[in-house]
Amino acid sequence: MTCALCAPAQRPERQNGPDPANLPETNPYSSAADVETGRRLYAGRCGHCHGQNGEGGRGATLNTGRFRHGGSGRELFLVVRDGIPNTEMPGAFRLPDAEIWRMVAYVQQLSRHGASDPVTGDAAAGAIVYQKNGCAQCHSIDGKGGFLGPDLTDIGARRALRHLRESVLDPDADIPLEYRTVVVTTLTGKSTRGIHLNEDEYSVHLLDMSGNLRSFMKSELEDVKLPGRSLMPAYTSLSKTDLEDLVAYLGSLRPKR
Ligand code: HEC
Ligand code: HEC
Repeated sequence: MTCALCAPAQRPERQNGPDPANLPETNPYSSAADVETGRRLYAGRCGHCHGQNGEGGRGATLNTGRFRHGGSGRELFLVVRDGIPNTEMPGAFRLPDAEIWRMVAYVQQLSRHGASDPVTGDAAAGAIVYQKNGCAQCHSIDGKGGFLGPDLTDIGARRALRHLRESVLDPDADIPLEYRTVVVTTLTGKSTRGIHLNEDEYSVHLLDMSGNLRSFMKSELEDVKLPGRSLMPAYTSLSKTDLEDLVAYLGSLRPKR
Protein backbone atom coordinates (compact mmCIF):
# COMPACT_ATOMS: atom_id res chain seq x y z
CA MET A 1 0.00 0.00 0.00
CA THR A 2 1.25 3.49 -0.73
CA CYS A 3 0.81 6.40 1.60
CA ALA A 4 0.95 9.81 0.01
CA LEU A 5 1.56 11.58 3.29
CA CYS A 6 4.48 9.27 4.09
CA ALA A 7 6.26 9.97 0.80
CA PRO A 8 9.62 11.68 1.30
CA ALA A 9 9.85 15.28 0.18
CA GLN A 10 10.35 15.46 -3.57
CA ARG A 11 14.00 15.57 -4.41
CA PRO A 12 15.12 16.94 -7.72
CA GLU A 13 15.95 14.07 -10.10
CA ARG A 14 19.58 13.75 -11.00
CA GLN A 15 20.16 15.35 -14.32
CA ASN A 16 21.32 12.08 -15.85
CA GLY A 17 18.89 9.53 -14.56
CA PRO A 18 17.35 7.92 -11.52
CA ASP A 19 18.42 8.74 -7.99
CA PRO A 20 21.47 6.64 -7.02
CA ALA A 21 19.53 5.36 -4.01
CA ASN A 22 17.38 3.35 -6.42
CA LEU A 23 20.34 1.62 -8.04
CA PRO A 24 21.16 -1.91 -6.94
CA GLU A 25 24.38 -2.24 -4.94
CA THR A 26 25.62 -5.22 -6.95
CA ASN A 27 25.69 -5.46 -10.71
CA PRO A 28 22.51 -7.10 -12.02
CA TYR A 29 24.27 -7.77 -15.36
CA SER A 30 27.24 -9.95 -14.57
CA SER A 31 26.77 -13.24 -16.45
CA ALA A 32 29.53 -14.43 -18.77
CA ALA A 33 27.50 -13.11 -21.75
CA ASP A 34 27.15 -9.69 -20.11
CA VAL A 35 30.90 -9.55 -19.46
CA GLU A 36 31.56 -10.41 -23.11
CA THR A 37 29.20 -7.68 -24.37
CA GLY A 38 30.79 -5.32 -21.87
CA ARG A 39 34.24 -6.20 -23.17
CA ARG A 40 33.25 -5.21 -26.72
CA LEU A 41 31.66 -1.94 -25.59
CA TYR A 42 34.71 -1.21 -23.45
CA ALA A 43 37.11 -1.91 -26.32
CA GLY A 44 35.39 0.73 -28.42
CA ARG A 45 34.87 3.40 -25.80
CA CYS A 46 37.28 2.98 -22.93
CA GLY A 47 40.29 0.91 -23.98
CA HIS A 48 42.17 3.76 -25.67
CA CYS A 49 42.38 5.57 -22.33
CA HIS A 50 42.40 2.70 -19.83
CA GLY A 51 44.20 0.02 -21.88
CA GLN A 52 42.36 -2.99 -23.39
CA ASN A 53 43.16 -5.03 -20.27
CA GLY A 54 42.71 -2.20 -17.82
CA GLU A 55 46.44 -1.71 -17.50
CA GLY A 56 45.92 2.06 -17.51
CA GLY A 57 47.40 4.82 -19.57
CA ARG A 58 45.76 8.15 -20.08
CA GLY A 59 43.01 6.76 -17.88
CA ALA A 60 43.34 5.15 -14.46
CA THR A 61 44.56 1.56 -13.99
CA LEU A 62 41.47 -0.65 -13.66
CA ASN A 63 43.01 -4.08 -13.04
CA THR A 64 44.43 -3.83 -9.54
CA GLY A 65 41.20 -4.42 -7.61
CA ARG A 66 41.44 -0.93 -6.10
CA PHE A 67 39.23 1.96 -7.13
CA ARG A 68 39.77 5.43 -5.79
CA HIS A 69 36.17 6.35 -6.50
CA GLY A 70 34.67 3.21 -4.99
CA GLY A 71 34.56 -0.37 -6.21
CA SER A 72 30.99 -1.49 -5.56
CA GLY A 73 28.80 -2.19 -8.58
CA ARG A 74 26.76 0.90 -7.84
CA GLU A 75 29.75 3.19 -7.42
CA LEU A 76 31.31 1.98 -10.66
CA PHE A 77 28.02 2.43 -12.47
CA LEU A 78 27.80 6.05 -11.33
CA VAL A 79 31.41 6.78 -12.32
CA VAL A 80 30.94 5.26 -15.77
CA ARG A 81 27.53 6.86 -16.35
CA ASP A 82 28.28 10.33 -14.99
CA GLY A 83 32.04 10.58 -15.51
CA ILE A 84 34.33 12.33 -13.02
CA PRO A 85 34.01 16.11 -13.02
CA ASN A 86 37.14 18.11 -13.80
CA THR A 87 39.03 15.09 -15.15
CA GLU A 88 39.29 13.52 -18.57
CA MET A 89 36.91 10.76 -17.49
CA PRO A 90 33.80 11.35 -19.64
CA GLY A 91 30.28 10.18 -18.77
CA ALA A 92 28.51 7.56 -20.87
CA PHE A 93 25.10 8.85 -19.92
CA ARG A 94 23.61 8.55 -23.37
CA LEU A 95 23.91 4.77 -23.27
CA PRO A 96 21.11 2.59 -21.88
CA ASP A 97 21.65 1.54 -18.27
CA ALA A 98 22.03 -2.13 -19.28
CA GLU A 99 25.02 -1.30 -21.48
CA ILE A 100 26.64 0.70 -18.72
CA TRP A 101 26.13 -2.19 -16.30
CA ARG A 102 27.73 -4.56 -18.83
CA MET A 103 30.80 -2.34 -19.14
CA VAL A 104 30.91 -2.25 -15.36
CA ALA A 105 30.77 -6.07 -15.39
CA TYR A 106 33.82 -6.10 -17.65
CA VAL A 107 35.64 -3.57 -15.46
CA GLN A 108 34.81 -5.75 -12.43
CA GLN A 109 36.19 -8.76 -14.28
CA LEU A 110 39.39 -6.84 -15.05
CA SER A 111 39.70 -5.85 -11.42
CA ARG A 112 39.29 -9.44 -10.28
CA HIS A 113 41.30 -11.22 -12.91
CA GLY A 114 43.70 -8.46 -13.89
CA ALA A 115 46.96 -9.64 -15.41
CA SER A 116 48.52 -9.64 -11.96
CA ASP A 117 45.95 -11.98 -10.45
CA PRO A 118 44.60 -14.67 -12.77
CA VAL A 119 42.46 -17.59 -11.57
CA THR A 120 44.82 -20.54 -11.23
CA GLY A 121 42.70 -22.99 -9.27
CA ASP A 122 39.88 -25.30 -10.24
CA ALA A 123 36.47 -24.12 -9.03
CA ALA A 124 34.90 -27.61 -8.97
CA ALA A 125 37.71 -28.93 -6.79
CA GLY A 126 37.34 -25.79 -4.65
CA ALA A 127 33.70 -26.62 -3.93
CA ILE A 128 34.93 -29.82 -2.28
CA VAL A 129 37.56 -27.95 -0.27
CA TYR A 130 34.73 -25.68 0.89
CA GLN A 131 32.65 -28.66 2.02
CA LYS A 132 35.49 -30.49 3.73
CA ASN A 133 36.54 -27.49 5.78
CA GLY A 134 33.13 -26.79 7.25
CA CYS A 135 32.77 -23.33 5.75
CA ALA A 136 29.01 -23.91 5.48
CA GLN A 137 28.78 -24.03 9.26
CA CYS A 138 29.00 -20.22 9.16
CA HIS A 139 28.34 -19.19 5.54
CA SER A 140 25.36 -19.60 3.24
CA ILE A 141 25.41 -20.09 -0.51
CA ASP A 142 22.03 -20.05 -2.27
CA GLY A 143 20.22 -20.23 1.06
CA LYS A 144 22.12 -23.30 2.33
CA GLY A 145 24.39 -23.08 5.35
CA GLY A 146 24.84 -21.02 8.48
CA PHE A 147 24.65 -17.29 9.01
CA LEU A 148 27.37 -16.42 11.52
CA GLY A 149 29.44 -15.11 8.62
CA PRO A 150 28.45 -13.14 5.50
CA ASP A 151 26.36 -14.75 2.77
CA LEU A 152 28.67 -15.87 -0.05
CA THR A 153 26.08 -16.43 -2.80
CA ASP A 154 27.48 -13.67 -5.02
CA ILE A 155 30.84 -13.04 -3.35
CA GLY A 156 32.67 -13.57 -6.66
CA ALA A 157 30.89 -10.60 -8.19
CA ARG A 158 31.76 -8.34 -5.26
CA ARG A 159 35.34 -9.15 -4.29
CA ALA A 160 38.71 -9.38 -5.98
CA LEU A 161 40.48 -12.75 -5.82
CA ARG A 162 43.19 -11.29 -3.62
CA HIS A 163 40.58 -10.16 -1.12
CA LEU A 164 39.09 -13.68 -1.10
CA ARG A 165 42.51 -15.25 -0.60
CA GLU A 166 43.25 -12.86 2.26
CA SER A 167 39.84 -13.50 3.83
CA VAL A 168 40.66 -17.21 4.06
CA LEU A 169 44.26 -16.84 5.25
CA ASP A 170 43.87 -13.85 7.55
CA PRO A 171 40.25 -13.24 8.59
CA ASP A 172 41.34 -10.77 11.27
CA ALA A 173 42.74 -8.35 8.69
CA ASP A 174 39.47 -6.61 7.87
CA ILE A 175 36.41 -7.38 9.99
CA PRO A 176 33.22 -5.54 9.03
CA LEU A 177 31.46 -3.86 11.96
CA GLU A 178 28.46 -6.16 11.76
CA TYR A 179 30.64 -9.28 12.22
CA ARG A 180 32.60 -8.35 15.33
CA THR A 181 33.32 -11.13 17.78
CA VAL A 182 32.11 -10.68 21.35
CA VAL A 183 32.91 -12.79 24.42
CA VAL A 184 30.72 -12.42 27.50
CA THR A 185 31.53 -13.99 30.85
CA THR A 186 28.85 -14.39 33.52
CA LEU A 187 29.39 -13.80 37.25
CA THR A 188 29.45 -17.59 37.61
CA GLY A 189 32.40 -17.74 35.19
CA LYS A 190 30.68 -19.14 32.09
CA SER A 191 31.93 -17.66 28.78
CA THR A 192 29.95 -17.41 25.53
CA ARG A 193 31.47 -16.38 22.22
CA GLY A 194 29.56 -15.12 19.20
CA ILE A 195 28.81 -12.31 16.79
CA HIS A 196 28.04 -9.02 18.50
CA LEU A 197 24.57 -7.91 17.42
CA ASN A 198 23.91 -4.96 19.71
CA GLU A 199 24.31 -3.67 23.17
CA ASP A 200 22.79 -0.99 25.39
CA GLU A 201 23.28 0.16 28.95
CA TYR A 202 21.62 -2.95 30.40
CA SER A 203 22.04 -5.82 27.97
CA VAL A 204 24.14 -7.45 25.25
CA HIS A 205 22.73 -9.45 22.33
CA LEU A 206 24.75 -11.91 20.32
CA LEU A 207 24.54 -14.88 17.96
CA ASP A 208 26.29 -17.80 19.62
CA MET A 209 28.42 -20.37 17.79
CA SER A 210 25.35 -22.51 17.08
CA GLY A 211 23.61 -19.55 15.48
CA ASN A 212 21.19 -18.96 18.38
CA LEU A 213 20.19 -15.45 19.41
CA ARG A 214 21.28 -14.92 23.04
CA SER A 215 20.63 -11.98 25.36
CA PHE A 216 22.50 -11.26 28.57
CA MET A 217 21.73 -8.76 31.32
CA LYS A 218 24.84 -6.77 32.07
CA SER A 219 24.06 -6.96 35.79
CA GLU A 220 24.68 -10.72 35.51
CA LEU A 221 27.95 -10.37 33.59
CA GLU A 222 31.47 -10.21 34.90
CA ASP A 223 32.90 -9.06 31.61
CA VAL A 224 32.11 -8.14 27.95
CA LYS A 225 35.06 -8.29 25.57
CA LEU A 226 35.40 -7.41 21.88
CA PRO A 227 38.66 -9.22 21.15
CA GLY A 228 39.15 -7.68 17.70
CA ARG A 229 39.60 -11.13 16.16
CA SER A 230 37.33 -12.73 13.64
CA LEU A 231 35.08 -15.61 14.62
CA MET A 232 36.43 -17.24 11.47
CA PRO A 233 39.54 -19.37 11.95
CA ALA A 234 42.55 -18.64 9.71
CA TYR A 235 42.92 -21.48 7.19
CA THR A 236 46.69 -21.23 6.93
CA SER A 237 47.22 -24.99 6.86
CA LEU A 238 45.47 -25.45 3.48
CA SER A 239 47.85 -26.67 0.77
CA LYS A 240 48.62 -24.17 -1.98
CA THR A 241 46.50 -26.20 -4.42
CA ASP A 242 43.52 -26.39 -2.06
CA LEU A 243 43.76 -22.67 -1.36
CA GLU A 244 43.82 -21.69 -5.05
CA ASP A 245 40.98 -24.12 -5.84
CA LEU A 246 38.95 -22.63 -2.99
CA VAL A 247 39.65 -19.08 -4.20
CA ALA A 248 38.63 -20.08 -7.74
CA TYR A 249 35.39 -21.52 -6.35
CA LEU A 250 34.58 -18.40 -4.32
CA GLY A 251 35.41 -16.25 -7.36
CA SER A 252 32.93 -18.24 -9.44
CA LEU A 253 29.99 -17.50 -7.11
CA ARG A 254 27.84 -15.01 -9.00
CA PRO A 255 24.23 -13.92 -8.89
CA LYS A 256 22.07 -16.06 -11.16
CA ARG A 257 19.59 -14.39 -13.40
C1 HEC B 1 39.52 10.29 -22.45
C2 HEC B 1 40.01 9.23 -21.63
C3 HEC B 1 39.02 8.34 -20.90
C4 HEC B 1 37.99 7.62 -21.45
C5 HEC B 1 37.51 7.55 -22.88
C6 HEC B 1 37.42 6.87 -20.36
N1 HEC B 1 38.07 7.16 -19.19
FE1 HEC B 1 37.70 6.32 -17.35
N2 HEC B 1 39.01 7.59 -16.51
C7 HEC B 1 39.84 8.46 -17.19
C8 HEC B 1 40.64 9.18 -16.25
C9 HEC B 1 41.68 10.24 -16.55
C10 HEC B 1 40.26 8.71 -14.96
C11 HEC B 1 40.81 9.15 -13.60
C12 HEC B 1 40.06 10.40 -13.15
C13 HEC B 1 40.55 10.86 -11.81
O1 HEC B 1 41.52 11.59 -11.76
O2 HEC B 1 39.98 10.46 -10.82
C14 HEC B 1 39.24 7.71 -15.19
C15 HEC B 1 38.61 7.01 -14.16
C16 HEC B 1 37.81 5.91 -14.36
C17 HEC B 1 37.31 5.06 -13.33
C18 HEC B 1 37.53 5.23 -11.84
C19 HEC B 1 38.83 4.61 -11.42
C20 HEC B 1 39.00 4.61 -9.92
O3 HEC B 1 40.15 4.41 -9.49
O4 HEC B 1 38.02 4.79 -9.17
C21 HEC B 1 36.60 4.07 -13.93
C22 HEC B 1 35.89 2.90 -13.25
C23 HEC B 1 36.62 4.32 -15.34
N3 HEC B 1 37.37 5.44 -15.57
C24 HEC B 1 36.00 3.52 -16.29
C25 HEC B 1 35.84 3.92 -17.62
C26 HEC B 1 35.01 3.23 -18.57
C27 HEC B 1 34.21 1.96 -18.30
C28 HEC B 1 35.10 3.94 -19.75
C29 HEC B 1 34.36 3.68 -21.04
C30 HEC B 1 32.91 3.84 -20.98
C31 HEC B 1 36.00 5.04 -19.52
N4 HEC B 1 36.43 5.00 -18.22
C32 HEC B 1 36.37 5.96 -20.48
C33 HEC B 1 39.91 8.62 -18.55
C34 HEC B 1 39.05 8.06 -19.48
C1 HEC C 1 33.17 -20.13 12.73
C2 HEC C 1 32.53 -19.44 11.63
C3 HEC C 1 33.24 -19.39 10.29
C4 HEC C 1 33.80 -20.42 9.56
C5 HEC C 1 33.91 -21.89 9.93
C6 HEC C 1 34.25 -19.83 8.30
N1 HEC C 1 33.97 -18.49 8.29
FE1 HEC C 1 34.35 -17.21 6.78
N2 HEC C 1 33.74 -15.65 7.93
C7 HEC C 1 33.18 -15.75 9.19
C8 HEC C 1 32.93 -14.44 9.71
C9 HEC C 1 32.33 -14.12 11.07
C10 HEC C 1 33.32 -13.52 8.71
C11 HEC C 1 33.24 -11.99 8.78
C12 HEC C 1 34.39 -11.42 9.59
C13 HEC C 1 35.67 -11.46 8.84
O1 HEC C 1 35.75 -10.85 7.76
O2 HEC C 1 36.59 -12.14 9.31
C14 HEC C 1 33.84 -14.32 7.61
C15 HEC C 1 34.31 -13.80 6.41
C16 HEC C 1 34.60 -14.55 5.28
C17 HEC C 1 34.87 -14.01 3.97
C18 HEC C 1 34.88 -12.54 3.58
C19 HEC C 1 33.50 -12.16 3.10
C20 HEC C 1 33.41 -10.77 2.53
O3 HEC C 1 32.28 -10.26 2.42
O4 HEC C 1 34.42 -10.18 2.19
C21 HEC C 1 35.10 -15.07 3.14
C22 HEC C 1 35.43 -15.03 1.66
C23 HEC C 1 34.99 -16.26 3.93
N3 HEC C 1 34.68 -15.92 5.23
C24 HEC C 1 35.16 -17.55 3.45
C25 HEC C 1 35.21 -18.67 4.26
C26 HEC C 1 35.63 -19.98 3.79
C27 HEC C 1 36.02 -20.31 2.36
C28 HEC C 1 35.59 -20.82 4.86
C29 HEC C 1 36.01 -22.26 4.93
C30 HEC C 1 37.37 -22.56 4.48
C31 HEC C 1 35.10 -20.03 6.00
N4 HEC C 1 34.89 -18.75 5.59
C32 HEC C 1 34.87 -20.55 7.27
C33 HEC C 1 32.93 -16.92 9.86
C34 HEC C 1 33.37 -18.19 9.48
